[in-house]
Amino acid sequence: MLMRLARQTFVRQYGEFTYLFGKVTAFDEVFRNAEVFLKYVTREPQEKNVIVDKIAACYPDVSRETIVADFDAFLGPLIREGVVLVGETAAEMTAREPFFTYDCDDPKTLENKKVYTEEEANALPAKLMEDYFAEHPTLFELQMDITQACTERCRHCYIPEYNPLFLPYDKICEILDDFRALGGLGITLSGGECMLHPDFIRIVKAIRERDCTVSCLSNLTVCTDEIVSALVEADATAQVSLYSMSPAIHDEVTRRKGSWLETMGAIARLRAANVPLRISCPCLRINYKGYPDVMKFAESLKMSAQTDFIIMGKQDCDTTNLCNRLNLDETRELLQDVILKSVPMNSEYFSPGKKAKLDSVEEWKRRKACGACVNSMCLSPTGDYYPCPGFAGVPLGNCYKQSLRDIWLDSDAVKRIRSVTNACFKGCAECKDRDYCSTCMCRNFNETGDMFSPAEHFCRVAAINHEIVDEKQRQMLAQSGVDA
Ligand SMILES: C[S@@+](CC[C@H](N)C(=O)[O-])C[C@H]1O[C@@H](n2cnc3c(N)ncnc32)[C@H](O)[C@@H]1O
Ligand code: SF4
Ligand code: SF4
Repeated sequence: MLMRLARQTFVRQYGEFTYLFGKVTAFDEVFRNAEVFLKYVTREPQEKNVIVDKIAACYPDVSRETIVADFDAFLGPLIREGVVLVGETAAEMTAREPFFTYDCDDPKTLENKKVYTEEEANALPAKLMEDYFAEHPTLFELQMDITQACTERCRHCYIPEYNPLFLPYDKICEILDDFRALGGLGITLSGGECMLHPDFIRIVKAIRERDCTVSCLSNLTVCTDEIVSALVEADATAQVSLYSMSPAIHDEVTRRKGSWLETMGAIARLRAANVPLRISCPCLRINYKGYPDVMKFAESLKMSAQTDFIIMGKQDCDTTNLCNRLNLDETRELLQDVILKSVPMNSEYFSPGKKAKLDSVEEWKRRKACGACVNSMCLSPTGDYYPCPGFAGVPLGNCYKQSLRDIWLDSDAVKRIRSVTNACFKGCAECKDRDYCSTCMCRNFNETGDMFSPAEHFCRVAAINHEIVDEKQRQMLAQSGVDA
């Protein structure tokens, strides 16, 4: 019997943990001490007996029967999940290859609405990996902004300039080699408009050839049929910004006439080609009333979608773009709608017992602020590495002067960001709204010029969020007949 990994199954070894990711069904699992079992199941089909021989050579004191029994027990669930394929011939395995399609009731791009208990959430592979990376920083994801150039001039955009700077293909390949050697898995291409890069298709291929996952953030205005084919070939995913179902309002945000038509046309072509697509609808003053229509549109296409009211200042601390941001009354209106619609009523978020379970001040202070430089980093079109999307004002090193490896392992600037815990944020630990807030270096820096000085707007938004959740909890207690 032949055996191989499915096309979209990715395996990485981190210390004693083996991480397995099946992209089609967003299946992930973390195994302890499974390195030998998974090491020999490769992308190339091999006879099962050959794989067992290789494993047996690693365990000379264990009988072959025991190894076969353990191997079968280990692989059974992975074969059922479709992340490992078996068959008598290569063609049989190809016929069993799982692929993503919208032509089913529940494509996996739809939001995962499952509500986890605290215990379940703590046992999720993502949480186990988060804990591992906190102890052993590993560059798991890299966002490459391959150009500053853009077809649009969005009102809220945090990018200060749209120069025709393009990261060279050869430099990108050199960086990808380092990334893979460091254990990296996911590459996100962004910009500017990444599809304007003259080597976009070659770059997508180069990422896939290094056995990494590819996703791109794009407005899709220049997404040609050749690009669609390259994305299909590379099993890529994409996220597109769609601001309204009204062409005039969308174009008013992007300040490019005809952009709505271009973007909608590309969404249809990517869907027809079964590229997993997520629609993002950041909310500004001029488009927020229409965000439910964008969400309904996404649902009608069985695509996942998200809205966002967090608009940050520009990367160079210029805040002129913030006049487009929702004011506090509008934010309250949107937050109420989003929270009450999208957070299930039985979620811990509304649980009257939530407050009793919150971290103490000391515990909260010890927590890492976020994944920047812990498991992720970004690269700008100037060649500067920076901590997270939007946070380009704090450079960490430059790809024309140092290798990715040296920067990730040795840069003092990286180590500084990596060491940031909640304790660094001024006045946050004792704040009554801290558990309803996302303390964020980038939001602070772009608006106040200091990554640890909170921006007043976001503090007010956190207070509103807190009020809405408290009100919901009071209503739930009243309904259940318990005095608040
Ligand atoms: C910078 S763009 C790059 C990719 C592509 N050009 C696009 O617009 O989708 C990535 C995402 O950031 C969002 N964005 C831009 N400026 C922002 C800001 N100031 N605050 C929050 N999100 C912003 C965009 O709306 C878009 O969804
Ligand atoms: S948000 Fe994206 S599309 Fe809009 S100007 Fe910025 S980079 Fe360009
Ligand atoms: S609301 Fe303001 S002070 Fe309070 S935790 Fe958030 S950023 Fe810090």
